[in-house]
Amino acid sequence: MGTALPASMRFVAASGPGGPGVLAVAHGPLPALRDGEVLVRVEAAGINRVDCQQRAGAYGPPPGASPVLGVEVAGEVVAAAPGTAFTGGERVCALVEGGGYAAYCAAPATQCLRWPAGYDAVQAAALPETFFTVWANLFANGCLKPGETLLVHGGSSGIGTTAIQLATALGASAIATAGSPAKCDACVRLGAKAAIDYTREDFVARVRELTARRGVDVILDLVGGDYLARNLACLAPRGRLVIIGFLGGSRAGEIDLARIVVRHLTVTGSTLRPRDAAEKGRLADGLAASVWPLLDAGRCAPVIDRTYPLERVAEAHARMESSAHIGKLVLDLR
Ligand SMILES: NC(=O)c1ccc[n+]([C@@H]2O[C@H](COP(=O)([O-])OP(=O)(O)OC[C@H]3O[C@@H](n4cnc5c(N)ncnc54)[C@H](OP(=O)(O)O)[C@@H]3O)[C@@H](O)[C@H]2O)c1
Repeated sequence: MGTALPASMRFVAASGPGGPGVLAVAHGPLPALRDGEVLVRVEAAGINRVDCQQRAGAYGPPPGASPVLGVEVAGEVVAAAPGTAFTGGERVCALVEGGGYAAYCAAPATQCLRWPAGYDAVQAAALPETFFTVWANLFANGCLKPGETLLVHGGSSGIGTTAIQLATALGASAIATAGSPAKCDACVRLGAKAAIDYTREDFVARVRELTARRGVDVILDLVGGDYLARNLACLAPRGRLVIIGFLGGSRAGEIDLARIVVRHLTVTGSTLRPRDAAEKGRLADGLAASVWPLLDAGRCAPVIDRTYPLERVAEAHARMESSAHIGKLVLDLR
């Protein structure tokens, strides 16, 4: 298939758990392909908060996954295990279990999606992690429907910018919270009907005001901690709270269970990375059918904050952990 592969490749190695300074570029062998996988020559790799958590030693890769950081890549297929539908030369973006911060990455064929029309590698690499997560959690898990209202915390995050756009494009309306006026402006530009600067305003009171005291139908929460009781206070009858992260802590304070019972609320959550390839493949099929046409048409698009060459990966992690970014940070390997 195509041109000969090199004997070794560049990748990001970690000298141990710790701050961004543990990351450095190293050289080593290309990943071996397993059944059902393709080899992608990586042109760009997305950075996600989970990579920072893994680097710090707080979150390990699933069993059997590459220990190299990186869960999403975009590039060209240069080799494929027998039985996959790829012949080489296809431009794909892929959700991977690990190994993305490298010049070559093995990806399950069923988790590869084509680049949307007019996309370059950086834009394509910014898609998989947030679009798989938001698709799985807002629609399959949270059952968000056209005409309903979503509250998304961390509206300017990679996840938040995707959730605002996808909810809006599919006929729901979104309210976002974010930590500065500039971040709130960005959320509104992306289609949120309102954005609440949680450092200045009580989001519970504002949500009630914005929904004429009814509350919202679905909440996508990545803060956790003491947001639980406040989130429950924001939900309309039969509302659904979907928890996907706990940047504010995994322990909640006391809550009144009567609120859940009386108002018929649902509290749920999920993780993406440990799901098996079959389940991720089904999510990819749903995205290809329902979301990629929206990306082709420009009705939603990844928000790119900054790009970095592989050598400056530590700087990219520091920016993510500063929370100064709006949207996605991407490693550009071209
Ligand atoms: N369960 C899953 O399947 C899944 C999949 C992907 C991601 N996630 C989770 O989703 C979250 C967002 O991921 P991402 O890659 O989109 O992250 P990101 O771009 O780094 O955004 C995180 C943002 O959350 C906001 N935030 C609110 N409270 C915070 C707090 N207490 N500490 C730190 N930040 C806080 C910050 O913006 P403000 O200035 O507005 O506070 C920050 O920019 C992470 O927790 C990640 O682990 C879960």
